[in-house]
Amino acid sequence: MDLTAALENLVPALETGLAEVSSLARLEDIQVAFLGRKGALARLMSRLPELPAAERPAFGRAANAVKERLAALLEDARLRLGREQEAADLARFDPSLPGRLPWQGSLHPITLVMEEISDVFQAMGFEIASGPEVETDFHNFEALNFPPDHPARDMQDTLFVAEGVVLRTHTSPIQVRAMLERKGPPVAIIAPGKVYRRDSDLTHTPMFHQIEGLLVDSRVTLAELRGVLTMFVRQLFGRDIAVRFRPSFFPFTEPSVEADISCILCAGTGRAQNSPCRVCKGTGWLEILGAGMVHPNVFSAVGFNPETCSGFAFGLGVERVAMLKYGIGDLRMFFENDLRFLAQFS
Ligand code: PHE
Repeated sequence: MDLTAALENLVPALETGLAEVSSLARLEDIQVAFLGRKGALARLMSRLPELPAAERPAFGRAANAVKERLAALLEDARLRLGREQEAADLARFDPSLPGRLPWQGSLHPITLVMEEISDVFQAMGFEIASGPEVETDFHNFEALNFPPDHPARDMQDTLFVAEGVVLRTHTSPIQVRAMLERKGPPVAIIAPGKVYRRDSDLTHTPMFHQIEGLLVDSRVTLAELRGVLTMFVRQLFGRDIAVRFRPSFFPFTEPSVEADISCILCAGTGRAQNSPCRVCKGTGWLEILGAGMVHPNVFSAVGFNPETCSGFAFGLGVERVAMLKYGIGDLRMFFENDLRFLAQFS
């Protein structure tokens, strides 16, 4: 083919090629094939010496015009592909959709309940106290009037760490530490924390949470215990809740009581939906905490004078309160860390 015809053929050839191109990568290839250093146009130019000298300037001008035309066609195609790409992206992406907020954490329901209970007591003048979870036998048992072979130790299902060292089985050792620290009355503390016992089933986990309270002064009586705990229960569960105290036993309190509140589900009637209430098992009452007047032997163990000091102490299970408060039926939910459960408390 003669050179000029071949030159003029480049434009329609490129047009045909561009009509089919659908990606920018392919467009690059085409550009190299036509305008590259070893492309079609360059190959034609290299054959310039084949022409008679008189025709060479005209051919050069024609080649330049073709080159510009090719470049313009390629640029058009590049713009078209860019627009097509953008349209395809927009088709997959809906810019009118609301944005997705990042996950935000929230406090665990157990923490929420511990904070709420602590707040109620802090408002009454109690201070927050704490102690170690790995405790000595002295703080966990001995000073709390559990003598070495006292059968009450069996109530506690202790996890031992070493001889004379245990994972605390209750928050009551914090009473002992608080009194040892303050050396004399008054003491008014509230102490939330983890405790450990050697049982694990549907209603028990080896670790759970308690809140301990202790008030010691010179003329504290069971009346103050009842007054403070009744006020606390009503603040937490509502003013219509009834509270009753039953005699009980703890080695570190005398007399000892357990406090019940009227059932949250059946309002104390014992019946819900025409059958015995499943939350209180038809009794109308829910056990909520253990309490009592501090035993004189506990005062002696921490160097307080049992003749002049009096006080009350109480301990309550946080999981139980949280289950009642939020209507949670299964204790294990607190420890499974299922975000669908936890996110409800944010
Ligand atoms: N420590 C007791 C328990 O774990 C609860 C309690 C605390 C009872 C303080 C009386 C006074 O069961």
